[in-house]
Amino acid sequence: MSADVSRRDLAKLAGLAALGAAAGAKAADNKAADNKAADNETPAPADRAAPFPKDFLWGTATSSYQIEGAVDEDGRGKSIWDIFSHTPGKIEDGSTGDRANEHYHRYKDDVALIKALGVKAYRFSIAWPRVFPDGSGQPNPKGLDFYNRLVDELLANGIEPYATLYHWDLPQALQDRVGGWQSSDTSKAFADYSAYIAARLTGVKTIFTVNEVGRFVNFGYGWGIDAPGLKLPAAQLNQARHHVALAHGLAVQAIRASGRAGTRVGAAENIAACVPAIVTPENIRAAEIATRELNAGFLGVVLEGKYTDGFLAYAGADAPKFTPDELRIIGTPNDFVGLNIYAPQYYVTASDRASGFRVLPFPTSFPHMNSEWLRVGPEVIYWAPRLAAKIWNIDTIYISENGTSSEDKISADGQVYDLDRIMFLRNYLTQMQRAIAEGVPIRGYFLWSLMDNFEWIYGYGKRFGLYRVDFETQARVPKLSAAFYRDVVMRNAIGV
Ligand code: BGC
Repeated sequence: MSADVSRRDLAKLAGLAALGAAAGAKAADNKAADNKAADNETPAPADRAAPFPKDFLWGTATSSYQIEGAVDEDGRGKSIWDIFSHTPGKIEDGSTGDRANEHYHRYKDDVALIKALGVKAYRFSIAWPRVFPDGSGQPNPKGLDFYNRLVDELLANGIEPYATLYHWDLPQALQDRVGGWQSSDTSKAFADYSAYIAARLTGVKTIFTVNEVGRFVNFGYGWGIDAPGLKLPAAQLNQARHHVALAHGLAVQAIRASGRAGTRVGAAENIAACVPAIVTPENIRAAEIATRELNAGFLGVVLEGKYTDGFLAYAGADAPKFTPDELRIIGTPNDFVGLNIYAPQYYVTASDRASGFRVLPFPTSFPHMNSEWLRVGPEVIYWAPRLAAKIWNIDTIYISENGTSSEDKISADGQVYDLDRIMFLRNYLTQMQRAIAEGVPIRGYFLWSLMDNFEWIYGYGKRFGLYRVDFETQARVPKLSAAFYRDVVMRNAIGV
């Protein structure tokens, strides 16, 4: 879709709001009545959404395997997701990312879609096997060229590129050769790949190393439901996670050594988000303890340079093996912390147990969005950053992902009225604003996702985009939420 079409469509959607306002105004039949109506329509100060900080960074996000397609082009090697998605029974609708959004060829149009939202930042990921088809060794310059073209296009449109190095598409060659994250050879290969990118993708000033360790290690190596589909026992699983933490630390150092001065680096983690079930000082403290302990396996060791005593005691004989030197590398200071926040994972209360907290069971009636795991708890985007900032003394947090799936049917008039997504976003953004107003250092927000895409094991059955994608024709149509988000970005506030 061309930039013009997308802008026109967005304007049309925004026009719906204007229409509503015009209908309200008609009720007033003289100037005085007009003024009165305007007075009545002005929200009382308490209802008015406070604006975000002037330099707040609004963005949107995607990842390579979920949108690029072109899996056999320009020398790209296979990733574990190519193999996994082609294995019968692994993906709910039997689909693969072979074609996905054809973003590899349509990236210019997609940058126009980003621009039409008015956002100033775009978080995308780099497919490691495009750049190193064998995982290490000989690079493939054509793979890098694609990302340089993308970055140039973003910069030409006034959009700051935020690159993620690992959004789950591990080169299959590394999985085959050394068992992927089961080996620290993969950590070292990741550091080399990171250095290569930092030195050559010079338009990028901010780099996320790994995305959602909490998910891809557990799901891919523990439960076998994500690529590479392994079900390792606890000790090996903990070791694999340790290798990812080591990869992160090595990459931070490699990027500092090879990238342009001032390149910023951190991880994007789906923090195990703990929320006080009832807000009391005791429960807040319990949520803090829980947040530290339940994130000790990655965020904790990265930000503290050590595993907590609680984590090591709980793991017992299954604890990861590590050296003091590895911990030093893992604990290399980061420039920011990215938090992917969708749903509250744990509601906790204080407890007399040694741990100091208790995790409450979820009632089956707890509401969720169009993905069952996506429970609606907007306060999570207040508590998780607030607690993380306090525990680890963080001064820069990005919400590196937040968003929701929705049914997203096309109405008879061709529009997608995703009111549930707007409800979700409005509530989450309100809670994020609350955190910022209280001084929690959230500097930016990346809405997941720019457009519908390959939603991993759900295939194309779950839609997370601001733009609806017809995967047959590849047409992109802005949903009503795109107009909502554009409005938030434009006003730098939720509502008026
Ligand atoms: C991931 C995305 C995914 C999204 C929605 C996050 O776990 O980083 O790749 O599409 O959530 O499930």
